[in-house]
Amino acid sequence: MTQDELKVMVGRAALDQVVPGSVVGVGTGSTVNCFIDALATMRERIIGAVSSSEKSSERLRAHSITVLDSNAIERIPVYIDGADEIDPRGHMIKGGGAALTREKIVADLADRFICIADVSKRVAVLGRFPLPVEVIPMAAAQISRRFVAMGGRPVLRAGVVTDNGGHLIDVHGLHITDPLTMESEINQWPGVVSVGIFARHRASLCLFGGPDGVETVSYATAS
Ligand code: A5P
Repeated sequence: MTQDELKVMVGRAALDQVVPGSVVGVGTGSTVNCFIDALATMRERIIGAVSSSEKSSERLRAHSITVLDSNAIERIPVYIDGADEIDPRGHMIKGGGAALTREKIVADLADRFICIADVSKRVAVLGRFPLPVEVIPMAAAQISRRFVAMGGRPVLRAGVVTDNGGHLIDVHGLHITDPLTMESEINQWPGVVSVGIFARHRASLCLFGGPDGVETVSYATAS
């Protein structure tokens, strides 16, 4: 099976996680695009979606799925999104698609984060995938210096402006053994909008697409 076929398979499998009659939290990326296409088949059975990017909103609307304002939503049962890496405790690196800030905002509204990914995203320790960090442009140099001091190699993502007007730094060479602590520390730095470590908002469940089908892994509730 190709990687695209695996994405289609997990995108469809995620429909079982959608709570009928609810608003669904929808992430961003190529795997989520497959989920959105599958969600169209049950659009009559959901109220609508809260989306984490302009791209996903566009695709949802193209399927006539109502996109709701996140400020109008108090709580949603599930948020469904992909990941760039996921560790054995459900901690993730996200933001390869530049949507990390809105992804965290929508994930924060959800009771459960359901990750959908092909098996290649599974890692023992986070950090092989460069860590995306959204920053206020005037703080980019100072934040980069802090990452160098931490042992990382920060690279500004050229020409990319996020949906929020932020810039992105991709940090190479990190070995993230304590994602919760690192997420909290980076969040304190002035000018950081959000960091692509999803430890506080880690996955409750992950659907992994592999050559033998979809494997469902649930993660313990304590960090
Ligand atoms: C978007 O900003 C990311 O967090 C995506 O969720 C992540 O990059 C996974 O994307 P793919 O499904 O395209 O691999």
